Amino acid sequence: MGFDTDDFKEKPTIGILNTWSEVNNCHTHFRDRAEEVKRGVWQAGGFPLEVPVMSLSESFMKPTSMVYRNLLALETEETIRCYPFDAVVLMGGCDKTVPALIMGATSANVPAIFLPSGPMLKGCWKGETLGSGTDMWKYWAEKQAGNLCDDSWAQLEDGIARSAGHCMTMGTASTMTAIAEAIGLCLPGSTSIPAVHSTHSRMASAVGRQIVELAWDQVTPQSILTAEAFRNGIVTDMALGGSTNAIIHLIAMAGRAGIKLTLEDFDKISQELSVIANIRPCGEYVMEDFYDAGGILALLKQVKSHLTLDCLTVSGKTLGENLEDGEVINDDVIRPLDKPVGKAGGTFVLRGNLAPDGAVIKPTAAEERLMNHRGQAAVFADYGDMKARIDDPEAGLTADHIIVLQHAGPIGAPGIPEWGMLPIPKYLLEQGVRDMLRISDARMSGTSYGACVLHVSPESAIGGPLALVRDGDYIEVDIESRKLHLDVSDEELAARKAEWKPRETTFSRGYGKLYAEEITQAHEGCDFRFLHGDGSEMVEPKIY
Ligand code: FES
Repeated sequence: MGFDTDDFKEKPTIGILNTWSEVNNCHTHFRDRAEEVKRGVWQAGGFPLEVPVMSLSESFMKPTSMVYRNLLALETEETIRCYPFDAVVLMGGCDKTVPALIMGATSANVPAIFLPSGPMLKGCWKGETLGSGTDMWKYWAEKQAGNLCDDSWAQLEDGIARSAGHCMTMGTASTMTAIAEAIGLCLPGSTSIPAVHSTHSRMASAVGRQIVELAWDQVTPQSILTAEAFRNGIVTDMALGGSTNAIIHLIAMAGRAGIKLTLEDFDKISQELSVIANIRPCGEYVMEDFYDAGGILALLKQVKSHLTLDCLTVSGKTLGENLEDGEVINDDVIRPLDKPVGKAGGTFVLRGNLAPDGAVIKPTAAEERLMNHRGQAAVFADYGDMKARIDDPEAGLTADHIIVLQHAGPIGAPGIPEWGMLPIPKYLLEQGVRDMLRISDARMSGTSYGACVLHVSPESAIGGPLALVRDGDYIEVDIESRKLHLDVSDEELAARKAEWKPRETTFSRGYGKLYAEEITQAHEGCDFRFLHGDGSEMVEPKIY
């Protein structure tokens, strides 16, 4: 493409950071959308330039896309800094792309609008709606239990992902894009629009027009991302019954804006507000239904009394002004505050001698009987150990056992993968068991469900108490009082700690080595920090 250098002088230059990739099915429509953004930029008198940035594909990346969130954040920041952009459009949607692009753009601090990829169409199998991830986990359990044949499984695979777009349950993508809108970085209502809806194309051109306005006015992310804006993000997360991953990402995003969030900030709002979005995995519907029911603007209007409405957004208006058009069309999908989906809030924070620095659980996605439970631990030293032994009937686990997975955190796995919905033993599935208490320092997909205690901190790979749990130890979990207790004496734990030894790290070179050497689990919300070997924080690279 040729262009005149005068274009740089006379028009705002708009960088379009595109995470399109053939290997990321959530963004396969982004080539078209980038052209539609450009059309809007030209219409408003700007000069668009598209730049590819790393596409973090949740489905295909190894060992986990989480390792690469910070790499994309670094790439985003440096791409914005090194090119002569007056403003940028951030094109993302698949889980980690959302926080990564926002983190990088916040640090670079040039005007930015986030353009969400939008959820894919709802899945379908034999007349039944299928939800991304959630229904695969559900039917996988049925297959393991011997209730589903291979042909049916193949039909389910064919029917569950029927278009471009991100996962259409309330997974991490739907959660994080909604939060991106609530904190002020998206055009009003844009995050609920299905990826292949014609409105999505019109929205892309509107983003192109609006980013030129922001470039002229120099409205930057840091002028939008205040402490109140992030609080609005947490309220949105809780009302949606959002992914537990939102805690990790919001803490990192806020850190880039110089704002410190704690786990208690999340737990407090969770106690004030119950889930009102009736979306899987907490509820019944999927994102296409949510859009038709009024979408994010309708939901935010329902929780208006919990929001700070005078926060500025990229529309040029306040959040409160953006919500004026919000309307609930179907109040079974977007419930009123006095008729929530469950009596519990979105995400609870647990503490105790097993997680002195915190752990999380999504109670609305778990069986009620496990919310106050004492059981014996069945411990797996790592993921390989769990895969090798979990289905062995000789172990004799019952539905009351608590499955514990070690070495699944940022350093241990590495990269804190989404292993936290630990598998229920096949022989228990055959007996009809569908939920058990499970504890790990891993994350869990937002599409997952079950009584899974996650992000246990400090993680086991650095000698956190989770590393000291042994088969047969009793563990108590009381969700109401936020308690996670290992019933082993302090003296015995100290003796076990004295015997404990760290493992070798996995990576020998490249970004993986940097990650392994410099990233640890932060104490507030399991965010990552780059550290020097002596434990002091590095000045560069600045992760948040
Ligand atoms: Fe991309 Fe779920 S795989 S959002």
